[in-house]
Amino acid sequence: MSASSIYMDYAATTPADPRVIEAMNKCCGIGGAFANSASMHKLGRQAADVVNHARGQLGYLLNTSSDRLIWTSGATESNNLAIRGAAHARAHRGKHLITMLTEHKAVIDTFKALEKDGFDITWLAPRKDGILVIDDLAEVLRADTQLVSIMHVNNETGVVQDICAIGELCRENDVLFHCDAAQSVGKLEIDLQEIQVDLLSLTAHKFYGPQGIGALYISDQPRVGIFPITYGGGQEKSLRPGTLPVHQIAGLGSAAEIASAELRDNMQHVQSMRDRLWTGISDIPEILRNGDSESGYAGILNVSVSDVEGESLILGMDPVCVASGSACNSKDNDPSHVLRALGCSSIEAQAAIRFSFGRLTTPADIDFAIKQYRKTVEHLRSISPAS
Ligand SMILES: Cc1ncc(COP(=O)(O)O)c(C=O)c1O
Repeated sequence: MSASSIYMDYAATTPADPRVIEAMNKCCGIGGAFANSASMHKLGRQAADVVNHARGQLGYLLNTSSDRLIWTSGATESNNLAIRGAAHARAHRGKHLITMLTEHKAVIDTFKALEKDGFDITWLAPRKDGILVIDDLAEVLRADTQLVSIMHVNNETGVVQDICAIGELCRENDVLFHCDAAQSVGKLEIDLQEIQVDLLSLTAHKFYGPQGIGALYISDQPRVGIFPITYGGGQEKSLRPGTLPVHQIAGLGSAAEIASAELRDNMQHVQSMRDRLWTGISDIPEILRNGDSESGYAGILNVSVSDVEGESLILGMDPVCVASGSACNSKDNDPSHVLRALGCSSIEAQAAIRFSFGRLTTPADIDFAIKQYRKTVEHLRSISPAS
């Protein structure tokens, strides 16, 4: 990061913790645990020990047995494997699947692909604050429903869904529940002995681990069968074949161990950063806070203002690095599908900014961002044709 940049895009990715980098470095190169973890020789067994240790670290964070965790390349792959794998494994029982309009593209596009394969998808809309009403889900469950996929924390708004209630409803109706927890693992407490979730996706780079490594939790109570989506060697119970990236797995494990120890402190820290920011900008005329402000994840604050153009706002925020309300992973300027589903007009959605905070965010960073945001909004409004 350039020395003058102020990073407020932790929901996009986080910098790896120095302790994570150290754990990864120990694996790379001759003398490290670099070998193929499937090899029978001593170095292979050493690498396998590193992989197993990391599985234990992640299992501890989530309060689950480590043998329920499958390594993947990140939440995109975990979501694809969970949703496609479960839909196809249960297709003989029924082809009705349920998800929400506010999911990440990695979920939405997976369901769109299944729709083309002949599955019947129900797309649920949230309330205006982004929250799913449980009765709305109950109403659309059918005898042929096989899978419900609903995320935990929304990546754009920080809205938190009640995954305990969703899991309970799904279990009562013998429907699988998949949860994209990319934005919550390592940040909010998740106890897999408490939540009745069958499949849960996560990715290391959202909680100070490396990019390119994630995991899928697959419950065995009751046993959940899914089909693989890739084929090759027999690694990861043949559900995700391929040589394991030992250094990345060690990094994920280390990030999980740090999160287990520091999660509560981090939660308090991001909450104080978000509250400081909101206090500093909430008196701007016609500012709108997008998503549930009471119980949302405190590391994200999404706001829109009238009479400004989104791209100019982002450019004006420099050197503060924030995300726009445009579709998160597209180069085009489509207004966010998440904010549109919350009832924002496309102009409001395009003028939205997502601030997201993390361990390294300081009060001085927040104070700078407040000044920059106020100045930029004032300037853009003064030159807006609507003013
Ligand atoms: C909610 C959510 N799901 C899935 C993903 C995809 O994660 P990855 O980039 O690790 O595949 C992200 C990351 O942007 C996310 O925020």
